[in-house]
Amino acid sequence: MIQRLLITTLLTCLATSVTASAAPSNRPTGTVNVLHWWTSPSEAAAMDILKDHYAKSRFTWTDQAIVGGGGGRAMTVLKSQVISGNPPHAAQISGQGIQDWASLGLLAHIDGTVNRNQWTSVLPEFVSETIQFQGRYYGVPVGIHRSNWLWINPKAFETTGLAIPSSWDDLIAIAPRLRRAGFIPLTHGGEAWQQAAIFESVVLSEGGADFYRQALVDHDHKALTSPTMIKVFRKLKQIASLTPDNRTRMSWDRATQEIINNQAAVMLMGDWALGEFKMNGQVEGEDFYCQPAFGTDKKFIYNIDSFVMFNLRRFRDRQAQHGLTHQLMDKETQIAFNEKKGSIPVRMDAAEYLQGCQQQSLEDLQASIKANTLVPSIIHGMATRESLQIPAINFVSSYMSDPVVTPEQAVKSLSAALLSPSNSLSNSL
Ligand code: GAL
Repeated sequence: MIQRLLITTLLTCLATSVTASAAPSNRPTGTVNVLHWWTSPSEAAAMDILKDHYAKSRFTWTDQAIVGGGGGRAMTVLKSQVISGNPPHAAQISGQGIQDWASLGLLAHIDGTVNRNQWTSVLPEFVSETIQFQGRYYGVPVGIHRSNWLWINPKAFETTGLAIPSSWDDLIAIAPRLRRAGFIPLTHGGEAWQQAAIFESVVLSEGGADFYRQALVDHDHKALTSPTMIKVFRKLKQIASLTPDNRTRMSWDRATQEIINNQAAVMLMGDWALGEFKMNGQVEGEDFYCQPAFGTDKKFIYNIDSFVMFNLRRFRDRQAQHGLTHQLMDKETQIAFNEKKGSIPVRMDAAEYLQGCQQQSLEDLQASIKANTLVPSIIHGMATRESLQIPAINFVSSYMSDPVVTPEQAVKSLSAALLSPSNSLSNSL
């Protein structure tokens, strides 16, 4: 309530929309202050591409990089800046966060720029939909990530003479032998969203795309409490035993290092991990393999990275934002950025140059669109609002860290959280 009031007050101060059609001029240069969470080595390198390309314009970039994969901490910082009346010029926002911020009237729409440049003609429809609120464009998308990827250390399998597993059951069966040979069967870091990433992939593999949508997008009570969901939680309990304990707050890129350093056999992680492999000089097909998460071949859990522009009054600020909007959607910028980031450019005319895992990602994306097996990531805010996303992530993470409740109890708690956001899950564990 207080937050609403503050925001309303703030709105009256900020209620000026970007003149999306502002033409380039010779007026003094402006600065954009950009808030984001790309702080791992490869994320920072990808961000540097955006900064370098923007530096070619007459504007200056000031960086606000907030540590924490998945952006949880960055969103907390963003909220406090907005509430104190000091929003950045631009912020990295995922999925439904765009609609949340736009519904508060705090964002500048970019309709003029989108329409004049006919951007929708190069964007896939699901990307265009993600960046809109009530028919207006608010998000500037830069890349499409796939959440359901596995990263394999081939040396672990060469050393042990084991075949690369093709299902969770296979991995569970060979885990003792991998362990005896000194390998972590399945590595991941300790942030809650990393554990929940496993959950969304298992929901997709156990239930298929329709079930995934019923449960995680529509929050259908029957699906959420179904025998399929109980099976998901049963499987998660087994999968949790493959991963090391005591990883509190370990970042995803440190977990990736365990594949690179030949300490772990398998990791489930979105394709930002690809950026990290490349950054470390790893050769795809030799030093590491990528394959869709078990049971999700040709299915695609998407996560679109976007930036939004906050409503600012000064002309020079709006000019600088306008320049940034253009730069982020520039074809060459998108090619260079996504090469480092591991994602697919949102501009399909910039996606022709992809190779290896990225090429496979694009092919699987296209196949999943045709087969209607493209689904939004819950952990990256594509499937549901933040008020539901966070309790769901935290619940799954607690369950995987210490599964004291039964799968039957777990489905009830998850469904209660998704159907009644005010209902905290913390007491149910
Ligand atoms: C995601 C974001 C990705 C990625 C990841 C880890 O939410 O969309 O671009 O970098 O977090 O920080």
